[in-house]
Amino acid sequence: MILSASILSSEEKGINILKKFNNTNVDYIHLDVMDGKFVNNKAFQMSEIKKINDISLKSLDVHLMVKNPEKYIQDLAMLNVSCITFHYEPVKDINNLIEYIKSFGIKVGIAINPETNINNLVPYLDKISQVLIMGVHPGESGQAFIDDTFEKVKNLKQKIINNNYKTIIEVDGGVNDTNALKLKEFGADAIVSASFIQKDLNNIKYLKEL
Ligand code: DX5
Ligand code: ZN
Repeated sequence: MILSASILSSEEKGINILKKFNNTNVDYIHLDVMDGKFVNNKAFQMSEIKKINDISLKSLDVHLMVKNPEKYIQDLAMLNVSCITFHYEPVKDINNLIEYIKSFGIKVGIAINPETNINNLVPYLDKISQVLIMGVHPGESGQAFIDDTFEKVKNLKQKIINNNYKTIIEVDGGVNDTNALKLKEFGADAIVSASFIQKDLNNIKYLKEL
């Protein structure tokens, strides 16, 4: 399983945990960017993101939980960013934003909130690298996984297979040893984890070996 390790939304604690992740086989550092508008919390400033980028030995998998994602792209493009994922819900011209991110040579993902139907994403599946399905309401680590997520993963996977798309499915929020295997069986290709792997780094091995 591809594993994207999420750091905490406080820079100080985040840097400490980031240094630990550097010595593991996690695939990416998942960076949650929050603007205090699309979600209540706020993190990180661009100066903090640059610091995280300098310390990280892994490329960044950036999750923009923000109202105006286009404002962040140019700065992020200067960093070791593998993929930029923005939310479906606040963006008016999705095709335009996809092309803009791609123009920097960066992979594109679209994230959807628990209450958003996956059918909304169908027109974009052939143009993006990943769909990020939220397993919790965006904004905080450590929340309980919403069980409806399983069906969303399964239905989206079916659409991807039927159309021969290469889009991968990443699940973010509330992932642990009670749901990760089932998520994989239902079609998840990648997992984001903060609390489960931070409480015990051995849980990285568990998720990677799924
Ligand atoms: C939630 C964030 C997640 C979060 C995951 O809004 O997008 O990336 O850090 O945290 P856990 O794994 O603790 O649910
Ligand atoms: Zn995230």
